[in-house]
Amino acid sequence: MTGACLSHLGHRVRCIDKDKDRAKELASGRIPFYEPGLENLVSRGVGSGRLSFAGPEGLRRLAQDAEVIFIAVGTPQGEEGSADLSSVAAVARSIGRALAQNSVEHPEEAPRRALGRERPLIVVNKSTVPVGSADYVSMLIREGIDAEASAEDEHEAAAESFVVASNPEFLREGSALYDSLFPDRIVVGSASREAIDTLRALYEPIIEQSFSTELDPRPKAAVPFVTTDLVSAEMIKYAANAFLATKISFINEIANLCELVGANVGEVAYGIGLDGRIGPRFLSAGIGWGGSCFPKDVAALQAVAREYELETPLLEATVSVNERRRKQVILKLQRELHTLKDKRIALLGLSFKPNTDDLREAPSLKIAELLEALGARVVGYDPVAAKKAASKSPPGSMTVVYDPYEALREAHAVVIVTEWEEFRDLDLERMASLMHKPPLLVDGRNALDPEEVRTAGIRYAGFGRG
Ligand code: UGA
Repeated sequence: MTGACLSHLGHRVRCIDKDKDRAKELASGRIPFYEPGLENLVSRGVGSGRLSFAGPEGLRRLAQDAEVIFIAVGTPQGEEGSADLSSVAAVARSIGRALAQNSVEHPEEAPRRALGRERPLIVVNKSTVPVGSADYVSMLIREGIDAEASAEDEHEAAAESFVVASNPEFLREGSALYDSLFPDRIVVGSASREAIDTLRALYEPIIEQSFSTELDPRPKAAVPFVTTDLVSAEMIKYAANAFLATKISFINEIANLCELVGANVGEVAYGIGLDGRIGPRFLSAGIGWGGSCFPKDVAALQAVAREYELETPLLEATVSVNERRRKQVILKLQRELHTLKDKRIALLGLSFKPNTDDLREAPSLKIAELLEALGARVVGYDPVAAKKAASKSPPGSMTVVYDPYEALREAHAVVIVTEWEEFRDLDLERMASLMHKPPLLVDGRNALDPEEVRTAGIRYAGFGRG
């Protein structure tokens, strides 16, 4: 997404993937995951000649020619919650080796021109890495240089051949393109003035909102460009995700209370969200948060705190409130259906959120597992992630179907797990006629109008809706 967006802004971008075949696929416009708008942006970039892809062999050339290299690899959850930095480490070392190899090729130019470069290479970390990792990245680049450099003066030149910066991203899956072009802010952390100035120039069309867009009116007038030190930039990323996760867990706790006292959490969220200090977003109660970011980033922040023997009771509560949300679905089903053994339960929406096919930490998978353990027969449907879910589900567990009404046939209950837009338009009468009588709908995202559901003859259970 970063590469495609930067090429859209007019920059020349070359994306390197360690998998040569994947690079080829991308070059031919095939995106290996679902993200609205990305395929189109990539093919426009490739068509313009500004966006290209290469396998790992392309890095050496880049280390010589590029002004900026972004590290944008995955940092999945590793042992005991901490982030697994092996991909970041591999890329950093390769950048170091590539820098040194270039200088070997042009021995007469090194070290005067810092390993063959006119200006230092700006290595920007976009991957989410634990606070303090920028120093680690610097060290690994040095290691790569040292492993490859042959002459003593090349080792000395190494320090001048690159600078590092941290540029965390705040885009959401499913709306990544919108979030990239119209971000709430751009954050850059670096000790190097040159790095900060170069990145400011790179992002200028976004900061000034001067790039061409089909969106009218443009949603943003200008975008704040926040500059800070490396460690603070890394902390901003984690603190933002942890705060958003906490905000959701907070409203989910309020939802529990709303259920008991007869209040409506949607109205409560609206009422508190109008307070500028609170804000309306990320106050949707329901099954809770999942995905590839919140769970791993909250865990990574806790892991950093543990290193310093710091307790994080608020983060612990955020996680524990969230874990209970999945179980609450089961309780709601049990309250109405009693035993779940042999009951057919349909799950609508398998991806962790709408507009993505990402199943990482998807609530659907946990709910399916809990239901299966109780002997229920689980059938799942998702407009985009169905195939992926089918290949992930062990044989004999959740049956995945490709039509929502097929999932509903003879189902004792249906759970809306992910609020895909198409579920709001389901034909409720048809739904009622297909389901086992009396039908039950558990609305895990408070996505439907309870009255409309009840009018169609379906019992309705939402979250925190009185
Ligand atoms: C999240 C952040 O929102 C991005 O700013 C950040 O860049 C990204 O992580 C990342 O670190 O890469 P993402 O995980 O793609 O983005 O999706 P979100 O829209 O934040 O949703 C996360 C989860 O929270 C989903 O399961 C969603 O259903 C849930 N959610 C969201 C709620 O339960 N209630 C809400 O009000 C909002």
